[in-house]
Amino acid sequence: MTARIIHLRSDEEDALHAAVDTLREGLPVALPTETVYGLAADATNPLALTRIYETKGRPRFNPLICHMADFAMAEQHALFDPVSQRLAEHFWPGPLTLILPLKEGTPIHPLATAGLATVGVRVPVGFAGSVIRRLGRPLAAPSANTSGKVSPTSAQHVAEDLGEKLALIIDGGAAPVGVESTILCVEGNTVRLLRPGGVSAEQIEAVTRLPIVRQEAPTATIEAPGMLASHYAPGAPVRLNAVAVGPDEALICFGNQEVAGQNEAAALFDLSPAGDLAEAAANLFDYLKKADAIRPRGIAVAAVPNEGLGEAINDRLARAAAPRS
Ligand code: TXA
Ligand code: MG
Repeated sequence: MTARIIHLRSDEEDALHAAVDTLREGLPVALPTETVYGLAADATNPLALTRIYETKGRPRFNPLICHMADFAMAEQHALFDPVSQRLAEHFWPGPLTLILPLKEGTPIHPLATAGLATVGVRVPVGFAGSVIRRLGRPLAAPSANTSGKVSPTSAQHVAEDLGEKLALIIDGGAAPVGVESTILCVEGNTVRLLRPGGVSAEQIEAVTRLPIVRQEAPTATIEAPGMLASHYAPGAPVRLNAVAVGPDEALICFGNQEVAGQNEAAALFDLSPAGDLAEAAANLFDYLKKADAIRPRGIAVAAVPNEGLGEAINDRLARAAAPRS
């Protein structure tokens, strides 16, 4: 099977129609969201969910995020505490996932939640939301990449990785946010940050006025299995906080900063010459893939400020650099 690719810009109605038809057949569809491309399937259909795990080679103990058309739809499947509701009203549609108790009687299949009593819920921006509305069911969607590899921010990334295994890819251009959603779990008056992402910790604190408790080190617990240490891994080894680069290494830097040896480096990618962290996040996965594609001995990455979206960028870089399992 080689995936059919439909461009959103040329015919959105055709794309919508094809996506919904394919999902109704129980097949996963790769589609754009504002964060990264997702591999979407009907969250109530166990066969379709099985196909997501198989296509990605993803362990079944790692639950999927369930995407909703809007807050009203989310309320049919999950129970909201007041803080989570405030966050949803403020940031949805957008790159925020809330871990919430499953509502009794929801048709979301346990394969989507890996049998947990909670569900990760988010409302995506744009086309993905239109698909969910038309389908009338939540869509389970992990990032559309082989498990453990760098997440896709373009249809081309998806096609290169999974094109032979998919029936349909919807091409909506480059994903504007470029890193995955922020994952939060509210417990009483504590907001736990399970994964930094497209909404910054500062933005969340400004809405809740509650302190954020960060996940300790990357763990292998059920709580955030996608946070396994080695994740987002390119082929070449990644080395962080580089102040010098060798001629056989590719360099990834930020904000036009000078790194010793950069003119002799095998390649140079500046995440944002202007020093804009949102631009850097949008370029991150694409530049990791491009750096990897020249097959350097290694990828050297210069420091990126750890504020705002920089926290999500540094989280992904740390995982890309972690020892491979
Ligand atoms: O931006 C995103 O979130 C993208 C787009 C496609 O929406 N999706 C995404 O999915 O990043 P994925 O599968 O790559 O990451 C989902 C993360 C995993 O780390 C998983 O363990 C966690 O969410 N997760 C899902 N349900 C959970 C639950 N009930 N409790 C704790 N963690 C959960
Ligand atoms: Mg992923």
